[in-house]
Amino acid sequence: MPHPLTARRSARISGRVRVPGDKSISHRALILGALATGRTRITGLLDADDVKATAQVLEALGAEVTHRDGAVEVLGQGVGGLREPREPLDFGNSGTSSRLMLGVVAGHDMRAEFTGDASLSGRPMGRVLGPLTTMGLQVEGEGDTLPLAVRGTGDLVPIAYELPVPSAQVKSAILFAGLHAPGRTTVVEPLATRDHTERMLAFFGAELRVEDRADGSRAVTVCGDAELHGATFAVPGDPSSAAFIVAAALICPGSDVVIENVLMNPTRTGFIDTLREMGAEIEVLDLRDEGGEPVGDLRVKAGPLRGVRVPAGRAPSMIDEYPVLAVVAAFAEGEMHMAGLAELKVKESDRLAATAAGLEACGVAVHIDGDDLIVQGGGAVKGGALVATHMDHRIAMAFLTLGLGAEAPVTVDDVSMIATSFPGFVPLMTELGAELA
Ligand code: S3P
Repeated sequence: MPHPLTARRSARISGRVRVPGDKSISHRALILGALATGRTRITGLLDADDVKATAQVLEALGAEVTHRDGAVEVLGQGVGGLREPREPLDFGNSGTSSRLMLGVVAGHDMRAEFTGDASLSGRPMGRVLGPLTTMGLQVEGEGDTLPLAVRGTGDLVPIAYELPVPSAQVKSAILFAGLHAPGRTTVVEPLATRDHTERMLAFFGAELRVEDRADGSRAVTVCGDAELHGATFAVPGDPSSAAFIVAAALICPGSDVVIENVLMNPTRTGFIDTLREMGAEIEVLDLRDEGGEPVGDLRVKAGPLRGVRVPAGRAPSMIDEYPVLAVVAAFAEGEMHMAGLAELKVKESDRLAATAAGLEACGVAVHIDGDDLIVQGGGAVKGGALVATHMDHRIAMAFLTLGLGAEAPVTVDDVSMIATSFPGFVPLMTELGAELA
C-alpha cells in the first residue's frame, strides 16, 4: 500500500543532529567483512533496507552477521570462501548490493539467482556483466536485467578495463572480482567516482595501487588471490542523507543547523561545493580523519542563493544529490544549469524526468536539454502539488524538502521507499522543525 505524506511551509529548521551511516560504505564494510578472514566489527552501520539486503545475501552465502553491543559483527569466510546459496538472492531495491555482489559471486564456483523489486528489475546490469563475463562469469539466458541466474568460477581471469560510464558500482564489482583472480586487475576511470572501495580494500589488507594520470583519469589496480583481514570499522554519516537537511536549512528562512559526523570524502562533496558557489553559508567544523575517511560537522544557515552552471565533470561527486540540488535551485535567483546527467536516467527511477516533472508540478520553470537539467529560480516556489516518486527514495525526500519552503503544501505519493536509505528521515526532520504529516 502506498503511503503518501505532506510537507508544509516550516518556520525554521534548527538543532544539532547526526545522520545515519553512509550507505556506500555500509555495503562495502559488510562485503569486505565477509571476504576477510576472522571477525569484522562495524559501528555506525546504516540500518536501512538496502544494507539489510546486503547482510541477508551474505548470510545466504555462508557469512555470519550478528548484532552485538550496538555494533554489527561479520564472521568472514576468506576470499573465495563463500558457499552456493540454496535460494535466490533477493536484493530488494538495492542497485549497489546487486552489482557489487555480482563481482563477488563471479569469483566463486557457484550458481546464484539474483532478484529484486520492480525498480531494480528495470535497471541495467549489462554494464557489470560485460566486464565480469570477460573475466569468466557465465550468465544464463540473454537478459541483462534482474532476475538473472549466473555461474561464477574459481578460475577468474584478471582484466584491464576502462569504464565506459562513470560508475563506482561497476568499478567496485570488477575490483571485488579481481580479488579472486590471479595477477592484477585494473580499472581505469576517465572521471573519478567515489573511492570507498579503494580506501577500504587497503584498510582490510588488500594490495592495491591507485594512479592519478595527467589526463585526469585514474587507474586502480588490485592484486588477486588476496588475503583480507577482519577489522574494526566505523561508518561515518551519509552526506547524501545529510543533503536533505542541508537543503531544508537553506530554503527555510532563519534556519541554523549542525549535522555531526558527516563523510567529507572529496569524491562525495560536489553538492557542498556547488551550494557554496551558489552563495550558501556552509561551514565544515572539526574536519578529522576516521578510519581512513575525512569526516566533519556541517553548520548550515539559511540565506539568499543564486543559480550557477554545474559542469558535467562534477556529476560523479554528487550524482545522488541532483534531485535535491534542483529543489534548492528552484528557491535561488536566476538560472541553474546542471550539465551531463545521463546517469540520472538509470537510478532507482529516471531521476532526470522525475525531478523535472515534480518541479513543474510545483510551478517551477524547468526543462531538460539532452542530458542537462535547467531550472529557472525565482526565489519563491508555489508548491500545492502531488508529486510522483516512482519507487525512488531520493525523489520522495527531495520533494518533501521542497514542500518545507513552498507557498502551498506538497504531497508525495509514497514515502515507503525512504526506508531503503534513511528510515528515520521523517522523525529527524520533524525534530528539527519540519512540518511533515
Ligand atoms: C554507489 C554508486 C553510485 C550511486 C549509488 C551508490 C556506490 O552509483 O548512485 O547510490 O555505492 O558505489 P553508480 O555506480 O551507478 O554511479
